[in-house]
Amino acid sequence: MRTQVGIVGAGPPGLMLAHLLRREGVDAVVLEARDRSYVEGRIRTGVLEQGTVDLLKTLGLGERMERLGLLHHAIEVGYEKQRFRIDMTALTGKSVMVYGQHEVVTDLIAGAEAAGIPILFGVEDVALEGIAGPSPTIRFRRGGVGEELHCDYIAGCDGFHGISRAAVPDGVLTTYKREYPFSWLGILAEAAPSLDELLYMHSDCGFALFSMRSPTVTRLYLQCDRTENLAEWPDERVWEELHRRFESMDGWMPKAGPVLQKSITAMRSFVTAPMQFGRLFLAGDAAHIVPPTRAKGMNLAIADVKVLATCLSAAIREGKASALDCYSEVCLRRIWSAQRFSWWMTSMLHNSLEDSAFDRRRQIAELEYVTHSVAAATSLAENYVGLPIENPF
Ligand code: APR
Ligand code: PHB
Repeated sequence: MRTQVGIVGAGPPGLMLAHLLRREGVDAVVLEARDRSYVEGRIRTGVLEQGTVDLLKTLGLGERMERLGLLHHAIEVGYEKQRFRIDMTALTGKSVMVYGQHEVVTDLIAGAEAAGIPILFGVEDVALEGIAGPSPTIRFRRGGVGEELHCDYIAGCDGFHGISRAAVPDGVLTTYKREYPFSWLGILAEAAPSLDELLYMHSDCGFALFSMRSPTVTRLYLQCDRTENLAEWPDERVWEELHRRFESMDGWMPKAGPVLQKSITAMRSFVTAPMQFGRLFLAGDAAHIVPPTRAKGMNLAIADVKVLATCLSAAIREGKASALDCYSEVCLRRIWSAQRFSWWMTSMLHNSLEDSAFDRRRQIAELEYVTHSVAAATSLAENYVGLPIENPF
């Protein structure tokens, strides 16, 4: 088999890249290790920046999102049992869309099917060869049979644990990382959201987040210890802890309901630089991870491939191979800015055993500042809704 761009991974960046390339008249084949229903059912975060929303609409893939997504103009930030509203649209003119990542993936797959973009699900033993030279190849097995995909370029969109980053020779990539001493326990509950906006709540017992997926489904997270596992968190304990953390002076509480799904996500910040080697380009979680505190991961991944599609198209259609040289640099500027913001939100809202009374007072001072100063709230809001995606040329 032959294609212009071989894409490893059918997550948001892999699928979006295939669509963007198709629009430019460039052929791509997507290889995915899991089956379609697994990929479409994998629950992740769900806040789309305006740039992501606009891109889905431009590609004609926004119909279901516009129908089912929840447009949010503000968030609430709480501490010391009080809640404050930050009106992002008033401060920045922009908004965000609450729409689950798996819904985005479902829409991208349906769109690919309609457009005839090939996605091969359930491939095994994927390996990259010849990435340093002019004709890279992806070897894999499908239904037990070995196959080869010959490409001009390869996009490694296979997440943090994928094989693409590992295919780069030792010593080429520099990695930057920070592990946090806590994780997030997330639940989906069959309960009508009892607040119109997302609430980021600081409390002495740890951070909690109130979010939602639909008019009947609430999404909730609570900070837990890094070493804890789900068996230690029966539903009753989760609700008890959520109620303790959300307790506020006006008596508001998230409405409880049957727990539909429960999972624990580790918190880490990770960046690899550069994001390319030879003819292999890394995008999304394969190259960087942000802690989920502001649900930036999918948006960053999609911004990467917007830049990559422009560079690949110039290289393939106009013969300008040097167009690809700026890919890493352009993406990494935005990635570091998102890393800074996610780290700042995380350290303002979570507590850890290493924190002292000084750290707690500093957090409260920071929270007072962002909820009472227009300048500070604007800084939070412009980062929250997403900084512009740079045009590489
Ligand atoms: N071969 C083919 N596919 C693979 C392989 C492999 N060897 N390894 C992993 N994959 C697939 C995974 O099954 C998954 O569908 O690559 C995809 C990678 O998807 P994600 O882990 O979702 O990462 P990414 O696509 O970069 O998406 C970033 O996901 O984790 C969130 O916060 C993150 O929102 C961000 C988004
Ligand atoms: C979510 O709804 O999954 C979500 C929302 C906001 C965040 C993180 C996750 O900051």
